[in-house]
Amino acid sequence: MSKLARCSLATAAVVPWCALRLCVRGFSSTAYRRANASIFDNEPARPAVCTSIPGPRSQEAIKELDRVFDTRSLNMLVDYDKSRGNYIADVTATFFSMWKPLRFAQISSIPLGYNNPRLAEVASSRAMVSAIINRPALGNFPPSGWAETLRTGILRAAPKGLNQIFASTTGSDANETAYKAAFIWRRARDRGGKPFSAEELDSAMVNQPPGAPKYSILSFAGGFHGRLFGSLSTTHSKAIHKLDIPAFDWPVAPFPRLKYPLSDHVAENKSEEECCLQEVERIITSFHNPVVAAVIEPIQSEGGDNHASPSYFRRLREITKRHNLLLIVDEVQTGVGATGKFWAHEHWGLEIPPDMVTFSKKAQVAGFFYADTSLRPDKPYRQFNTWMGDPVRALLFREIYDEVERLGLVEKTAVVGKYLYTKLEQLAARYPGEIHNLRGKDRGTFLAWDSPRRDEVLKLAKTRGVHMGGCGETTVRLRPMLIFQEEHVQNFRGWPWITYGESQDRRICYIGGQVLRELTRAHPGCSIAALIRNNETAGRISDAFPKVRTVVGDLDDAELVEREASQASVVLPYWIQISGASGLAAPELASPSFAPGSASSVVYDDLTGIEDIRALVRAYLSRAVNNYLLDVAAQTPSIKTALVWPPVIYGAGEGPVNQRSIQVPTLARATLERGHPVKVAEGLNRWGNIHVRDLGRLICSLVYKALRGDQRQELWGENGIYLAVAGEMSFAELSERISRAALEQKLINSEQIEALEPSSADTVLPYATVFYGTNARGKARRASELLGWNPHEEPLETDVPIAVAEEAKRRAQERGD
Ligand SMILES: Cc1ncc(COP(=O)(O)O)c(C=O)c1O
Repeated sequence: MSKLARCSLATAAVVPWCALRLCVRGFSSTAYRRANASIFDNEPARPAVCTSIPGPRSQEAIKELDRVFDTRSLNMLVDYDKSRGNYIADVTATFFSMWKPLRFAQISSIPLGYNNPRLAEVASSRAMVSAIINRPALGNFPPSGWAETLRTGILRAAPKGLNQIFASTTGSDANETAYKAAFIWRRARDRGGKPFSAEELDSAMVNQPPGAPKYSILSFAGGFHGRLFGSLSTTHSKAIHKLDIPAFDWPVAPFPRLKYPLSDHVAENKSEEECCLQEVERIITSFHNPVVAAVIEPIQSEGGDNHASPSYFRRLREITKRHNLLLIVDEVQTGVGATGKFWAHEHWGLEIPPDMVTFSKKAQVAGFFYADTSLRPDKPYRQFNTWMGDPVRALLFREIYDEVERLGLVEKTAVVGKYLYTKLEQLAARYPGEIHNLRGKDRGTFLAWDSPRRDEVLKLAKTRGVHMGGCGETTVRLRPMLIFQEEHVQNFRGWPWITYGESQDRRICYIGGQVLRELTRAHPGCSIAALIRNNETAGRISDAFPKVRTVVGDLDDAELVEREASQASVVLPYWIQISGASGLAAPELASPSFAPGSASSVVYDDLTGIEDIRALVRAYLSRAVNNYLLDVAAQTPSIKTALVWPPVIYGAGEGPVNQRSIQVPTLARATLERGHPVKVAEGLNRWGNIHVRDLGRLICSLVYKALRGDQRQELWGENGIYLAVAGEMSFAELSERISRAALEQKLINSEQIEALEPSSADTVLPYATVFYGTNARGKARRASELLGWNPHEEPLETDVPIAVAEEAKRRAQERGD
């Protein structure tokens, strides 16, 4: 540490893209080792992506297939012979792309890996061959061992308290048959043991009550229960699934929208859940079509990985019981171990089990469990179809269950999930702008987060051999198999942290490139090392700055970072950290009454108001890296730290990798794409701004002071917070200026500024409420009075038309114009 603080011009080394290692929260090392024992012997060591995905042969084959089969949803054509364990192989000739599908194993439906040897063995057993070639219609002609197959297989996995099974074929029909069971049960109860009336029999034939009663199933906004006719009426994740299909007149209750991190929003979340439950009760008692059952997912999966607390579900169980409703828990996606329990609803601690639990996907076989035999219709053939499930799948599931038990895969998934969550938590602390609402703590590997640039990040991950997926609007979700282990997290590049790092690299390269330019210009004698994540970027840095030593490595490589940092006199950006001025907006963002787009008179002064800024950082522990730096400053004053907070950065950067800033180009892009300018609400809010070259100079001045050994207290540590501001502008004015420039350049036709609703602005501009809806106003007095720094580049007003022209050019290039 003391070496880091040492200042000497001769040996100065700077590590511009290095990031801080945050402490990994530990968990039991025995559990860790257990989770780490190898499960799948002949898996590749890591993914290899040698082609585009899909690969060239795959693309050819897809074209051919498309002539007879809709291929628009295809990821690639798979070579199942070459796929192993967690890895899936694309069909290619000499090239070979191998993915590790984290999101979908495949659609959350592969539990034990590709070409699992135990399953292969069962597949060639006599019972299996017989089941395949003689496919029994189970309702009429089950094989003699069917009871045994059920008892030793599916029923061993039955949730506590449920001992009956109805077998079906898919998740959708598992749900639909459960709904049918509920309706038949309810009508039998209402009928009070009487036989069917003639009127019932007649009216049923023309879809009218009383034979076809107007009962309903209650489902939840954001839920997904399938795409068949009945199940679709309970699906509410995306309109496109439902469009053009007639639906039942059934009620939809709100599902809680929890705020994260959960520990910071306990009271709010509790009240949100309570409101939603009250609404459930209101619907049950007042909906015009009597509600017979409620269907719910333990974690709304397709709808965006939305969670609710165990107490919410316990209350829901209590409400359904009190109103004599059946509770159907749809475990089609959450079931079979991924949440760290075999069934996700085991997390709730229910006193009375659900009435029915539906399953499919990783179980291979589908259906629903229940206990109350009155859920069996009073007559045969009322719940019936040709196959009534599939003994082939039932035999497979028996082996899957044995393997899950033998290898302790549910427990392992819980442990690996904790590890994964810890890594993601670190990632979220490192990239707070990129990872929001991390969820799935203590829910195994069933993890998700919101990512404003979700699709870009997913694409990048794919090129690194990792298949993550999206759900909801902006959610990234992980759905690895049960054989996914800690070694898979560690062993290769391409993980989300690398992915975020790489895309972040491009952004950081904007400032980092400028800082390198300034440093090499101002201190040609200084020896500089730059930590870069990949060879390509490193090559470009070396070409542009031949004297800079590039070190290719990852920030998780503690040894490398420590070794490099220990040889350096100044370490950027972390002992001198460049952070975001959105920190100044933290109180607004935390205030429920804040209206994005409204003005504020609060202007921070980094000289006379340094305590206010420090208090601001301390009040928001979620700004983890800022707080860490202040901790270091307080506990180890010998380390000279500084925090630089630039607001809107504009102007073309002079680095070799990325010359584009973010806020102004993104606003310009939205204007060009929509054909008119936009702002968040009234746009009266204001941010300071600074030209990237002025920012580079400011950082360079700090480096210079550090190298010179300037120990003045006002410069470093708890006082060393620098608001890097040159000018200031409201977002309404910025939009107007962009509009004027775009009109003058004949890029748009309308100057009418669209005022975006804050609630939907994020869909037009990433982070709209934060980056375009808040106030971040400050004065850069510390740099000016103590470092002698003064901005002298052209103001933002002058840069706007240039930024608009640049964005138009970039757009045209992207479109191949
Ligand atoms: C929770 C849930 N229920 C039901 C279904 C429908 O299953 P299937 O596609 O097998 O009909 C799905 C599918 O994704 C699901 O996630």
